[in-house]
Amino acid sequence: MHSAVNVSGLRKTFGQGDSAVAVLSDLGFDLPAGSSLALMGRSGSGKSTLLNILCGLEQVDAGTVTLFGECGRTADWPRLRRERIGVVFQEANLMPTLSLLDNVRFRASLAGQPETRCQHWLEVLDIGELGHRFPDQVSGGQRQRAALAMVFAMAPDLILADEPTGSLDRNTANEVADELFRLQGDTGCSLILATHDPELAARCQQTLDLGHRSGG
Ligand SMILES: Nc1ncnc2c1ncn2[C@@H]1O[C@H](COP(=O)(O)OP(=O)(O)O)[C@@H](O)[C@H]1O
Ligand SMILES: [Mg+2]
Repeated sequence: MHSAVNVSGLRKTFGQGDSAVAVLSDLGFDLPAGSSLALMGRSGSGKSTLLNILCGLEQVDAGTVTLFGECGRTADWPRLRRERIGVVFQEANLMPTLSLLDNVRFRASLAGQPETRCQHWLEVLDIGELGHRFPDQVSGGQRQRAALAMVFAMAPDLILADEPTGSLDRNTANEVADELFRLQGDTGCSLILATHDPELAARCQQTLDLGHRSGG
């Protein structure tokens, strides 16, 4: 099976001289297309930094990152972020002035995907009735479902999820996680999920623990 993501010898340090903090050092892993990886480790261990590197928003100090066979140094990152990499954060980053359905339509159109399927994605995520509502008119769990609808509507090859259920109560978190894993399996996209929740991490096929570092 070919790789969705390959990382080798990756090093990332913030700051210089005495104030330098080595966040990631000699990190390597391979994520086969269609599979899932949990990034574990306590707060400050570098999970978000690694996700930022994997969507081209942070430079590395050493090592290589390859996505879908494209070398990170020469990749067209804006195009990858628009069309192939979907990102989900702890708090759904919806546009407050757009309805849920228009948020999904906007994300789909950026990726060159048909807007006609957007209502379908809301229905798949069980918020089909709420498409006309604005983000501040629904619950946190419903906003997170809308964020997942946005990501799946862009038909991504890779989803980067940063503590995607971290702001939700346990039951809602489980429901949202169920949808994420179900749709990831159905669509065959790859998933990298940062979490400090061992139960959530155990649902991924691979686990990478960044937790043994001395990050703040
Ligand atoms: N832009 C930055 N400048 C300096 N230090 C940073 C920056 N971003 C993150 N860090 C530091 O890098 C470490 C890892 O942070 P982060 O990747 O956010 O960890 P996690 O997501 O695992 O909580 C922390 O010590 C944090 O303070
Ligand atoms: Mg983080």
